[in-house]
Amino acid sequence: ATNRTLTMIKPDAVRNGHIGGILEMINAAGFRIVAMKYTKLSPEKAGEFYAVHAARPFYGELVEFMSGGPIVAAILEKDNAVEEFRKLIGATNPADAAEGTIRKKYATSIGENAVHGSDSDENAAIEGSFHFAGTEIFA
Ligand code: CMP
Repeated sequence: ATNRTLTMIKPDAVRNGHIGGILEMINAAGFRIVAMKYTKLSPEKAGEFYAVHAARPFYGELVEFMSGGPIVAAILEKDNAVEEFRKLIGATNPADAAEGTIRKKYATSIGENAVHGSDSDENAAIEGSFHFAGTEIFA
C-alpha cells in the first residue's frame, strides 16, 4: 500500500547548496512530495524532535547542529515509503553508505549526514504531524 515518510534536508546539505540535488534524487526514485517547507528549528523544537535520543552522548551536538541553520522538511509518498526511503538515503555513517545513495553523495560525517528519514511507519506519522498541519498536506 502507498504510504508516507518524513524527510529533512539537514543544515549541512542546505549550507552546501544541495537542496536541488537531493530533491532531484528523491524525484528520480519515484517519491511524490505531498508536503514541503523551508524552515528552521529552534533548539527547543530540535530537542523535542530528537527526544528519543536524549540519553545518547551525541544528543547535545545533534540538537545544536539541527537548530544551527535552515532545513527543508517534506512528507514523501511511495509504496513502502519508510523502507524505500531508507534505502535511498543509505547508512547513517556516510563511510558505510552504498554507492548511489544520498548520503554517499552528499553527507560529510555521521552527525552531518545531509538527510533524515523516518525509521518506522509510526514515527513517520508522528514526525509528519510535528512539521505539518493537515491543511499543509496535498495528496
Ligand atoms: P538521523 O537518523 O536522522 O537521526 C538521528 C541522528 O543522530 C542521525 O541521523 C545522526 O545524524 C545522529 N547521530 C547518530 N550517531 C551519531 C554519532 N555517533 N555522533 C553524532 N551524531 C550521530
